[in-house]
Amino acid sequence: MKIGDKYTVIIEDNDSNGNGIARINNFVVFVSYALKDEKIEIEITNINKRFANAKIINIIKPSKIRQEIKCSCYDKCGGCNFLHTPFDYEKKLKLNEINKLFGSNIKEILTNNEYNYRNKATFHIKNNKIGYFSEKTNELVEINNCLLLDKRINDIYNYFKGQNLSDLDEIIIRVTNRETMLIIDGNTLKYNYDDLIKYNNIDSIYLNDKLIYGKAYIVEEINDIKYSIYPNAFFQVNYENMILLYNKVKEYAGTGNKLLDLYCGTGTIGIYLKDNFKEITGIEINKESILNANINKSLNHINNIHFICGDASILKNDCYDVVIVDPPRSGLSSKVINLLNNLDTKKIVYVSCNPKTLKRDIELLNNYILKSIECVNMFNKTKHVECVCLLERKYYE
Ligand SMILES: C[S@@+](CC[C@H](N)C(=O)[O-])C[C@H]1O[C@@H](n2cnc3c(N)ncnc32)[C@H](O)[C@@H]1O
Repeated sequence: MKIGDKYTVIIEDNDSNGNGIARINNFVVFVSYALKDEKIEIEITNINKRFANAKIINIIKPSKIRQEIKCSCYDKCGGCNFLHTPFDYEKKLKLNEINKLFGSNIKEILTNNEYNYRNKATFHIKNNKIGYFSEKTNELVEINNCLLLDKRINDIYNYFKGQNLSDLDEIIIRVTNRETMLIIDGNTLKYNYDDLIKYNNIDSIYLNDKLIYGKAYIVEEINDIKYSIYPNAFFQVNYENMILLYNKVKEYAGTGNKLLDLYCGTGTIGIYLKDNFKEITGIEINKESILNANINKSLNHINNIHFICGDASILKNDCYDVVIVDPPRSGLSSKVINLLNNLDTKKIVYVSCNPKTLKRDIELLNNYILKSIECVNMFNKTKHVECVCLLERKYYE
């Protein structure tokens, strides 16, 4: 078998990344965007020792559940993996994978929305064209109303599509329920935004890290809580599903005296749990996020929370009732695992956007056992999934 070879195959199964699985002389081939039972003509695009990848050339016999793909750049962009499947099938595949990985029996993946959920998009500019970088090739892909984006982001993108962008390199658009921020990078000291703000509702514009128009930060609100968002601060990309996730964290954490919110970002989770604990500490490595966290603290008149800027491994054994960890995709470092294993803490609530590192870390956190796990489809239509777990200290069983 070599790259470029063509075969006709029957798809045996689907994986949780939206691929069809076929076998050629017992060698596994993952076929992008193919569905179980389909008869497909494929072309091999990549081969390694254990498996090959292929793309569809022609669907000879489509699956009964195949959906019309309503995106013109689906295969060029590479950001979506499930536009060809019904939503229920996407959820089932993701859930099966999580249940298999963790030996769990989760019945339903939590989600509130299917499309138009992303509140942030990064657009690149090349040869006066604006678009995404293709996942595989980094080539610029012009889009046409991305199905994942909040509609206001699509409108602003469409405005830029007709403009002269020759001095610009990148435009990030962030929205909250009421406000919009633009973060522009380019080889220029000035940007004339008169037309931009005339035709679009914009509350804040940064150029090369400098505020040039409007507010320094935009605000998101959940129930009675206000969250400020600065240009570089982390904020969950799916507002409605963020509420589902945070409610699950709140349920797992329960109540108590002391809470540690490790990898706290802008302090969002700790602040969400402000009424459940007497004293809350947040630790986060990014300075701008800590600045943001302290603004969130004063915006909400909270005095039972304090934030520390530093690596997660500065955590102290401070009689925490509950520790929340929400690390990046790489998961916890071995130093943090060791520290957590030696804490006098009853519960860890682990929020993860990478099931593989979550599985590894749960096995390494050997003083705790997995009591419960839930799954939130934070990134509908993509291969990604968010998990939240309750781990309990063994001697408290
Ligand atoms: C997935 S985000 C979670 C943010 C927050 N819990 C939320 O829900 O918005 C992970 C955060 O971990 C921070 N981070 C990354 N490495 C870190 C480290 N070694 N120590 C502390 N924080 C770190 C990142 O800056 C980021 O804000």
